[in-house]
This record gives sequence, structure tokens and C-alpha cells, in this order.
Amino acid sequence: MDEHYKDQALVALYDTVNTSRDDFDFYRARLPNLPCRILDIGCGTGTFAVELADAGYTVTGIDPAAAMIAAARAKSGADKVNLVVGEVSDLGHDTSFDAAVMTGHAFQCLLHDDQIVDLFQNVAQRLTGRASFWFETRNPSVKPWTRWTPDRAGPPIALADGHRLQVTHDVQAVEGEYVTFSETYTINEGQEMGSTQSCLRFLTLPAIKALAERAGLFVHTARGDWTGEAFDESSPEIIVELKRSGT
Ligand SMILES: C[S@@+](CC[C@H](N)C(=O)[O-])C[C@H]1O[C@@H](n2cnc3c(N)ncnc32)[C@H](O)[C@@H]1O
Repeated sequence: MDEHYKDQALVALYDTVNTSRDDFDFYRARLPNLPCRILDIGCGTGTFAVELADAGYTVTGIDPAAAMIAAARAKSGADKVNLVVGEVSDLGHDTSFDAAVMTGHAFQCLLHDDQIVDLFQNVAQRLTGRASFWFETRNPSVKPWTRWTPDRAGPPIALADGHRLQVTHDVQAVEGEYVTFSETYTINEGQEMGSTQSCLRFLTLPAIKALAERAGLFVHTARGDWTGEAFDESSPEIIVELKRSGT
């Protein structure tokens, strides 16, 4: 697992760094009406899970990173969410959900086909009838990693304590579907407070379709951005809605 989901200091900065969340509005607009049970996979610091619970959904948030779940549990309103450290396979077979989501490109942390098929199967076993599993992955056709360079870093972020945080990215290797890069956190243009190394997988839509089929799921919808445009090769995102085959 990537260091920045384990390192307490970096986990504490996650919500400050990840503020623009059009994805939450997109998914929320596509969830079934209340009453409704949602599974938030790779829920991280739990922002979406808490937002949904506040709106009346019954939410389980699950993530293998204990530090991310600890941050989620510390949030106001987290007592309304069932927060679990682990994988979907750790949830009992008697649990069922009316929809599942995996936001924040968490899907790209899954590096191997077997991991993905295993996740899809475990989600499928816990979804009711025609329930959907929504997630997104960045579109490899537009090579988003070419913009992950130190000279293209965003402006420094003002922290609550008055310090300024700069986050920069630098790609080390692009090997087929795999992109390895560093993320460096610097305070007040000087003091480096941490640097992590990550590897993400960039799958195409046909590859996702094939893995979904292996798990008894099919791609019901593919969107290309958070306005809901249909996916095409120039889209920034591949936003996927899976359903169980035969439903
Ligand atoms: C970029 S964060 C996204 C967190 C949250 N979903 C959001 O939208 O802010 C990626 C998350 O995926 C989680 N993750 C990593 N490997 C995973 C796996 N195999 N299954 C589920 N989640 C995983 C990480 O622990 C991390 O919390």
C-alpha cells in the first residue's frame, strides 16, 4: 500500500489537499432513493461516506489503510457510518447493499487482474438485484501523467496553522499500464515534510469490460467526465457503472 495512506502526517493533510470533489456530486446524483444502503470502497478519510450518512443513507465505508479509517472516525458525523479497516471480502456474506462506490481513483491502487476480479466478485455477491457499482479510473489515452511534473504544481495551499504547503509530483517510470511517481510535500518553500512513491494502474475501458465479465458483471454505463458526458477516447476519466450480468 502507498506510504501516504499509512503516514499519519500525510493522512492528516489528505482532506486539505483534495478539496475539489465534483465526483461526489456526480455519484450522489446517481444513487438510489432513500432508504438505501451504500458501500463506499476505499473510503479513505470518509468524507463522502459521512456526507451520505448525513443525507440519510445507511453507509459502510471500508479501506485497508488503518490510518485513513482512523482519520474518518475522527470526523464529525462519523458515528453514523459503519467504518471498517479491510477489504470487501472481510464483510460477511449476509451483508447486502443497494449501491457501491469507489471514489478518488482508489480503483487505480489495484495493480493486478486477480485483485480486481476478486474485488468485483466480492462486490457482486453483496449487491442486491440490479444495484450498481460505480468507480472511475483516469483515461490512459490522454496520458494524464505527462502533466505530473514539478513545474506544473498547483499554487501552495494555506494550512490552518498559517503555513503554506506545496505538493509536487514527478514521474519515475511509465511501464505499460503502470505509472510510478513521487509525491513531495514541502512547507513554506523549504522544509520537506515527506515524499512518497506510488504506482497506479491505468486500464482501458475494454480491459475493464473483460475483467468485469470474468466476475459476472457488465459495464452498464461509461461516462467521460464529471458533467456526465459519454466516454470517448479524449475523455479525462473512465467513469464506470457495473451491474450483475443477467439482471
Ligand atoms: C486517493 S484515496 C481515495 C479515498 C476516498 N475514496 C476519496 O475519494 O477521497 C485512495 C484510497 O484507496 C485505498 N486503497 C488502496 N488499496 C486498496 C484496495 N486494495 N482496496 C480498497 N481500497 C484501497 C487507500 O487506502 C486510500 O484510502
